Parts: sequence; C-alpha cells; structure tokens
Amino acid sequence: MKLGVFDSGVGGEAIAATINHNFPHAQIIVINDRKNLPYGDKTASEIISLTDEAIQPLLNAKCNAIVIACNTATSVAIDSLRAKYPSQIIIGIEPMVKTAANLTKNRIIAVCATTATLNSQRYNNLVKEFGAGLTILEPDCSDWARMIEHNEIDSVFVSKVINDVCTRGADVIVLGCTHYNWIKDQIALAANGRAEVIEPSGAICERIKTLL
Ligand code: DGL
Repeated sequence: MKLGVFDSGVGGEAIAATINHNFPHAQIIVINDRKNLPYGDKTASEIISLTDEAIQPLLNAKCNAIVIACNTATSVAIDSLRAKYPSQIIIGIEPMVKTAANLTKNRIIAVCATTATLNSQRYNNLVKEFGAGLTILEPDCSDWARMIEHNEIDSVFVSKVINDVCTRGADVIVLGCTHYNWIKDQIALAANGRAEVIEPSGAICERIKTLL
C-alpha cells in the first residue's frame, strides 16, 4: 500500500508518524510546501492552486490514497481536488466538532485553527450541523503554525490562550491544525485537567482502514 501525505509543513510529519505506527508495512510519501507556508493566512483561491500544485508528485506516484494532512487545505480545497481527480482517493482532515459536541459536558468547546479554516464554508457547515446549542470559542491562533514550523514557540502565549478558553468554560479543545499536534502536550499541560484535547490522527487511520 502506498500512501501520500501532504501538509504545508511539519503538521504532515506528525500525521505521517501516526499512520506509520498503524500501517508499518505501508510505503508513506510525505510532501510539504514549506516555501509557501503558512497557508492559513492565504485566500481560498491561493490555497486551492497551491495545494493542487503541491500534490502533483503524489498523484504521479499513484498513491492508493492521498491524505491531505492539513485542516486548512482540506477545508478550502478538498472539494475541488476531488472533483478534478475523481479516480484518486483523497482523505481530508478537519476540526473534530462532532466529536467535541459528543464529549462536552459544559456545552462549551474551543476550536484552535487557522484563519482560513475558521472562515471556510466547510468548517462553518460542520458548526451548523454539529454545533447547535454549543458555545464555540475560536481563539486567535493565527501565528501558531508559523511559530511551530520555525520552532519559535512562545509557550507563555500558548498557555495564556489555553488558560483563557478553559477559564471561559471550554471542556474540550479541538486541535484544528496539524501543526498543533507538536505542542499537544504543552496545550494539555496548560489545560491542567480542565479540558480534553482532541485531534484526528487516530480517526484518519480508521478512515484509511475503511477505504483501502
Ligand atoms: N497544518 C495546517 C493545518 O492543519 C496549517 C498550517 C498553515 O497555516 O500552513 O491547517
């Protein structure tokens, strides 16, 4: 089995590591688009054309499935990629609003994601479908992907954002950007038992199992 994994940057490596753990015999090709990172502050049409261009090596490699390991690219570009490449299995990653809605007791959740993800139609459809009756906090994480990519993590700032959403009652924190997987432990530490921190790499592996 050959799997392609794409993200703008190091988020893809976090997802690829989980896939590798679950499918040790699969050949995994990981590509990124570091020269154009971050995607999260770009327009929809820029994200669509950059993602399309970036995944060409994975299409050419005839992967059994391509995982768009980027919430931003999934939210904005997956529909047009699936329409353009109908015979290619393309698996996306998006914020786990449905899971969070099932887990929250306070009916308050926080979604940490890029600006482009939060503004996308796809994300807003998720909120409409599964977020009824929930308060959804969307803290400003617009600089986090860049910060993590360049290993310039401002831990005090991250802890402050997480402490703020917990103080406002969020009991589930959705990591809606694969870059944030690299600071999941730090986020959980800042939440200090007040909120569960969730991200979708396990769910992606289940999806791969179902589809292939
Ligand atoms: N890792 C990407 C995501 O999951 C975003 C990083 C970026 O802004 O390029 O949304």
